[in-house]
Amino acid sequence: MKLRRSRPTTPALPQPRAQPVAGHLGRWGLEPLRLLEEGAASGAVFELRLWRRAVVGFRPDWNRLVLRDLDTFRSRGSLSRLTPYLAGGVVLTDAPLHQARRRELNPHLHARALDVLRPRLAAAVADALPRGRFDALEWSSSVVRRMLDVAFFDDRVDDRLLASFFGPLDRPVPHPFLPRPVRFRRTTRAIERAAADPVPGTITAALVGDTSRTAGVAATVEEIRVALAAGYDTTAHTLAWAVWHIAAAPRWREPSMVGPVINETLRLYPAGWIGSRITRRAVEHEGYVIPAGTLVLYSPYLSHRDPELWDAPLAFRPERFAERVPPWAYIPFSAGERTCLGMHLAKIMLETALAALCAGGDLRQAGPAPTLTAGLTLRPHGGVQIVQSTRHS
Ligand code: HEM
Repeated sequence: MKLRRSRPTTPALPQPRAQPVAGHLGRWGLEPLRLLEEGAASGAVFELRLWRRAVVGFRPDWNRLVLRDLDTFRSRGSLSRLTPYLAGGVVLTDAPLHQARRRELNPHLHARALDVLRPRLAAAVADALPRGRFDALEWSSSVVRRMLDVAFFDDRVDDRLLASFFGPLDRPVPHPFLPRPVRFRRTTRAIERAAADPVPGTITAALVGDTSRTAGVAATVEEIRVALAAGYDTTAHTLAWAVWHIAAAPRWREPSMVGPVINETLRLYPAGWIGSRITRRAVEHEGYVIPAGTLVLYSPYLSHRDPELWDAPLAFRPERFAERVPPWAYIPFSAGERTCLGMHLAKIMLETALAALCAGGDLRQAGPAPTLTAGLTLRPHGGVQIVQSTRHS
């Protein structure tokens, strides 16, 4: 595939430094964030030579182009299919079926519909508050797992089964990409059992009572399995980063700061750091023609750290969200019709966990700053050591 220049005077798309034989593939596996940053320094749209050529952009006009037109920018064949955890359900559904599917699913994951879950989620977190010294990544992973169990199954699916299903998502690449037929079968069976007799008020009950009438029970079970996987490490890693930052400053632990802290955490550490589509037809952007069948990438990570869009982009400043952010520049949950199905659930889980943690006592950082590792999500690496000291009244 060659990027055809529509005007002979425009230069070829820039690329970061590449190995002569393997192109960018090796560095994509080892240091994808550095590679993206180098690409972004070379131009607002650049090319990567992965196992196939990819065109990457990060400015708002690019995000708008790629995320608004689901007919041209398709999900099937993109990076999501590389992991069995996301290769199914609505994630792999394309236009025109996608819109109908989302119309069925959206009302059950809307903020208002999920409000009934808040007391049950709060009770689950209250049960699991950390004491003394703890690793915020471990805590976040177990508390998010528990909240997902509550939200979907009223806490009735065995925690060991969910821990085993999610286990590979906690491990570095390539673990999240390997087939796990036994874990998937067991989890699918557990969801089938829950769907056969769903607890009223759970997301499973809402989906089984509605979408399975049109899509069938098996499709709904698959949808739930994909949603659990899509919601686990994304939310857990976001929570762990947020805990690290709020432990640095008491002012960020004020109840009024929970929302801005979540927004700022999702800006600096957008779990979905890279998103992908395949072009169904040729597209022109800034004088370049991107041929049909091209892998096209958008990157919330680059958009959220772009110095042209943000003041002091690397600083953690929740207060910045008091001002309006430029449209299509802040996309932690993507945007357009494919906006994250679980956005409201993720926010409710994050709010619930952070509010309980902040109310529970003082926090301080108790180790070196974790480093950023990009796998399926942006994961804190090296431990997130925190000390919690209970307040005495
Ligand atoms: C902080 C937590 C989360 C973040 C940052 C996040 C981020 C994202 C992003 C960026 C996308 C778009 C991917 C793309 O198409 O390019 C997405 C899609 C999706 N997310 Fe989330 N997500 C989170 C939590 C959740 C939760 C809790 C669920 C569970 C319901 C969930 C379920 C999904 C599903 C099913 C899709 C596919 C939507 C579609 O293709 O129409 N996510 N998420």
